[in-house]
Amino acid sequence: MMRHRRRQKVLQATVRAERRDADSLAQVFDTTWHMAYRGILPAAAFEDLPPECAPEHWRRQLYHVPPQHLILAAVDEDDDPVGLAAAGPDRFGGQDWAELYALYVMPGYQRLGLGRRLLSEAFRLMYETGFEAGIVWTLTEAASRGFYERLGGAAQHRRESVEWGHDVAQTGYVWPDLGARFAAAAPAEAAR
Ligand SMILES: CC(C)(COP(=O)(O)OP(=O)(O)OC[C@H]1O[C@@H](n2cnc3c(N)ncnc32)[C@H](O)[C@@H]1OP(=O)(O)O)[C@@H](O)C(=O)NCCC(=O)NCCS
Repeated sequence: MMRHRRRQKVLQATVRAERRDADSLAQVFDTTWHMAYRGILPAAAFEDLPPECAPEHWRRQLYHVPPQHLILAAVDEDDDPVGLAAAGPDRFGGQDWAELYALYVMPGYQRLGLGRRLLSEAFRLMYETGFEAGIVWTLTEAASRGFYERLGGAAQHRRESVEWGHDVAQTGYVWPDLGARFAAAAPAEAAR
């Protein structure tokens, strides 16, 4: 019963991240990034941590979110972020494409629907901003590929890239019609 009530509350709360969330977003990224990529990235990758592990990175991002960019948080019953999504214009492709730059849900909160909510809400908002298609790049070896496939993404692109200082193979998942897929999918962001 407790678990059910907690889950209901968590599932309702996807909000725009605020400056006061910087510490928590860094914690979400740090914990989840380590869990997700241990065994995939070489050990050396964990000696020099990504900037997103530091609160200062998120403080800077949240101080001025550029137009057409967004940072969303999934929050727990205490209003603390336990998941995050960052999106903006596609860094490598067409002008009317949105890219999901980051999607991280803390290990204890995975498989509760938060990743789906964050992705759906991010792409819905990007569609409302004028983007017609969406893409996310993931490590080809990562477990998250199953998640993107479950959410209807098509593995249309491959590339070799350098991520966190290391050569990796990446797969690009594409949603060609954000309007059809996400426009009515998610309710409006929860008030905070
Ligand atoms: C990938 C991630 C964001 C998914 O978030 P989540 O909250 O656990 O996912 P959800 O609960 O919303 O899952 C939605 C659906 O996808 C399925 N799913 C989730 N993770 C999956 C996986 N690894 N493989 C296959 N299916 C998966 C769920 O079972 C659910 O299916 P359903 O519709 O039948 O219920 C989360 O696991 C995560 O943060 N992973 C580590 C970081 C990472 O890899 N991020 C992506 C960087 S590109």
